[in-house]
Amino acid sequence: MSLDIVAELEYIEKVKKINEGKNLKYLILTMGCQLNENDSEKISGMIENMGYTKTENIEESDLVVFNTCCVRENAEDRLFGKLGEVKKIKEKRGTIIAIGGCMMQEKHIVEKLKQSYSFFDIVFGTHTLHKFPKDLYTKLFENKRIEDVLDIDGEIIEGLPITRNDNIKASVTIMNGCNNFCTYCIVPYVRGRERSRNPEDVLNEVRELAKKGYKEITLLGQNVNSYLKSGKVDFDCKVKSFADLLREVNKIEGIERIRFISPHPKDFTDDVIESIRDCDKVCKIIHLPLQSGSTQVLKLMNRRYTKEQYLNLVEKMKKMIPEVVFSTDIIVGFPGETDEDFEDTLDVVRKVHFEQVFMFIYSRRVGTPGDRMENQVPEEIKHARFDKLKELVESQISENNQKYVGTVQKVLVEGTSKTNEELLTGRTDSNKVVNFVGGKDLIGNVVKLKIVSEHMWYLKGEIVE
Ligand code: 5AD
Ligand code: SF4
Repeated sequence: MSLDIVAELEYIEKVKKINEGKNLKYLILTMGCQLNENDSEKISGMIENMGYTKTENIEESDLVVFNTCCVRENAEDRLFGKLGEVKKIKEKRGTIIAIGGCMMQEKHIVEKLKQSYSFFDIVFGTHTLHKFPKDLYTKLFENKRIEDVLDIDGEIIEGLPITRNDNIKASVTIMNGCNNFCTYCIVPYVRGRERSRNPEDVLNEVRELAKKGYKEITLLGQNVNSYLKSGKVDFDCKVKSFADLLREVNKIEGIERIRFISPHPKDFTDDVIESIRDCDKVCKIIHLPLQSGSTQVLKLMNRRYTKEQYLNLVEKMKKMIPEVVFSTDIIVGFPGETDEDFEDTLDVVRKVHFEQVFMFIYSRRVGTPGDRMENQVPEEIKHARFDKLKELVESQISENNQKYVGTVQKVLVEGTSKTNEELLTGRTDSNKVVNFVGGKDLIGNVVKLKIVSEHMWYLKGEIVE
């Protein structure tokens, strides 16, 4: 156990003692990606060990934590909007306000907070998340405002308590940071360079999850298929690559499904494709971020592949794994994107027939090369292209849904449907939501369902006897 974690566990005990009998409540608001969701589970773990219980009601919160995202402007706007609301609650009941995550790594944001939202109590960054118990202790006992943000990449801290949001599916972070510097992206500046976790620690975490009854694991990282390719990699373990890791996780009894996000097309080596093919638990839907279909724009984005290379990779994977399908991320309106460039994006979408497309309008991020480029695309053009892409994607989804009708799918049952308590809901291997009638004892199991109808965002199924 590292010294850092020993110290933090001591702070957890100290705060817990003081909080005893006070029935304190906390709320955590998470913005952004699954990595942030996973960080929030760790923050929750620390907070619950310090004697707070979770509430969904902000009005009764004694501690509110924001785990922020800065990947696009709308994520930032959400924080500032919500802070106004929490200020009033703080005035009423002295709620402690802590703000952490990616946005706090940006100096101009912390300055803005100090100037216009100076009622916050704790600011912490992505490299100091594990020090939250000490920060909270200092706030409680010295009653001073804490700013705990580091520019240097933090080490990966093992052994933090964790409170998970789900008991069937779990995320396991395998690496932090990114070395790619795509020119639109702020992530390398706020999450630092790539640091891989020791494979033994990852495997032990998955084994523990399997023992607790978890069925689906998502391996997380900004660039998962460069796992163990840079930074400290000399771990004493037979796992030497992402491909090896998939094979080892596949052997863990009890786990039924393995997913991973996000890989980078440039690192999709044959050994990774072979592992996906050979491992029965690895879902045959691959998230392969395209970003743009134009070779010219991809070059400006520093993605390091061309339209043809991307399409060739898809073809190669389809040959090696006949049942494989794809999901992707696409940005429209990157600086310099012409109508012809956008047509190339549509062309790739038509050719690949993605199962799912996450579509984004380019958002200028301070400090990135994209923000400094001169030929920014006007807002109305960005929006028009977004709408056109959305139309194509939706027509493909509905066409694709038809193909499911009449087939039998293995579905991991996740719980009851949010909109109808009478129905169970789950997902196919390819991540499609399926609703069906069945007993609650099926929750957490994989069942065979015949797909009887499709409804754009979900399918309906019936249990196959
Ligand atoms: N503007 C719009 N979308 C972005 N993404 C990352 N940075 C930006 C940006 N500045 C998208 C990419 C990435 C996903 C997580 O978010 O598509 O894959
Ligand atoms: Fe951002 Fe590119 Fe790194 Fe993904 S690979 S986090 S898009 S810089």
